[in-house]
Amino acid sequence: MNSDAALPRMIAVCVNRRHGQQPSCAPRGGESMASFLDAEVARRGLPIQIKRQICMGHCDSGPTVRLVPGPFLHAPDRQQLLDLLDGLPRVASADGAATRR
Ligand code: FES
Repeated sequence: MNSDAALPRMIAVCVNRRHGQQPSCAPRGGESMASFLDAEVARRGLPIQIKRQICMGHCDSGPTVRLVPGPFLHAPDRQQLLDLLDGLPRVASADGAATRR
């Protein structure tokens, strides 16, 4: 079994925008969360993709963020997003430097 198989490779962020009465994540800050995560992942040099998605079925409690594979976060603040990145498993890269995946 590949030990990397269970490591997160993606953080999904809902950026769905509905017009009308139904709740959706973009008006609640989904896009700015995705942009914040893009910048933070780049700053840290993390090998993880930030993927904008259209609805993950948690519309009433969004913006919805999910570590894939892993748990959902509902309306996380920036500190919770930083904590999510801080909690990614550390692995040793080929040159021996510690990094996170
Ligand atoms: S609109 Fe974001 S989870 Fe449905």
